[in-house]
Amino acid sequence: MNSMQPNFLNRLKKASDPIGVFDSGIGGLTVAKALKKILPNERLIYFGDTAHLPYGEKSKAALQAYVIKSIDFLLEQEAKLILIACNSASAAAFELAQAYLGSRVRVVSVIEPTVQYVATRFEGQEVGLIGTRQTINSEVYVKKLAEKAPSIQLRALATPLLANMIEEGFFNNGISQQIVAKYLKFFEAYPIKGLILGCTHYPLIKTDISHYLGDEIETIDASNIVVEAVRKTLVSDNLLACAPNSLKDQFFVSDFTESFAATTRIFFGEAVRLELHQLWE
Ligand code: DGL
Repeated sequence: MNSMQPNFLNRLKKASDPIGVFDSGIGGLTVAKALKKILPNERLIYFGDTAHLPYGEKSKAALQAYVIKSIDFLLEQEAKLILIACNSASAAAFELAQAYLGSRVRVVSVIEPTVQYVATRFEGQEVGLIGTRQTINSEVYVKKLAEKAPSIQLRALATPLLANMIEEGFFNNGISQQIVAKYLKFFEAYPIKGLILGCTHYPLIKTDISHYLGDEIETIDASNIVVEAVRKTLVSDNLLACAPNSLKDQFFVSDFTESFAATTRIFFGEAVRLELHQLWE
């Protein structure tokens, strides 16, 4: 998966160091939540770049700048691994992040593990993909799937309203159901067997999506798949935390938003305290 990265020299890193996770906002919390469930000994430093939301509407150059600044911040927090918990940022800057980090710290994206999963599971079939404009227009899923499993026919649709809708707190209610139905009608023309949730915000409306698609079509929520990729990477670098950490997880945002605070509390409990970190002081 991270074959482009050289052998690791990060001997100075310790298993007790935190994993640095970032996204534009609450989307990455879906991956962070899965991470804590599956790997409870790991400590997290989460950064939500809420000041620059939505990432899905930004240019590739802008996203590359945000990604590098976010990585710098997470490195200052002693991260032993960086997880880009955002499809838009991964599409725009994963290779750049790998090159930037070199052998310092390993970086995992949400896209490669998902492509790997889809390639092995849906050979010879049609699969749908929804994501932000940035992710869909980059064609990153099309290109990576074509390399790994050319027999899979991908049907991709940009669903730009969804991340904003979720960030505003509309999920699993009448409004989100109607918008989901309007978008997903597109896939009725194709015999898809699975639908990739190509944005880390979308697991928050997984119930709406699965309800619309029915039992025959798999809703592909990458959270657990990505955590497995993180686990394997840590094991291979000898950095998997094997004992509980006495230090607390930390959550930073580049701008305070009520919905980020509310969702963090839903996911991680009342005690979570948000800290401010601006990418440009
Ligand atoms: N959660 C992000 C993604 O996976 C970005 C959503 C946004 O900020 O537009 O693409």
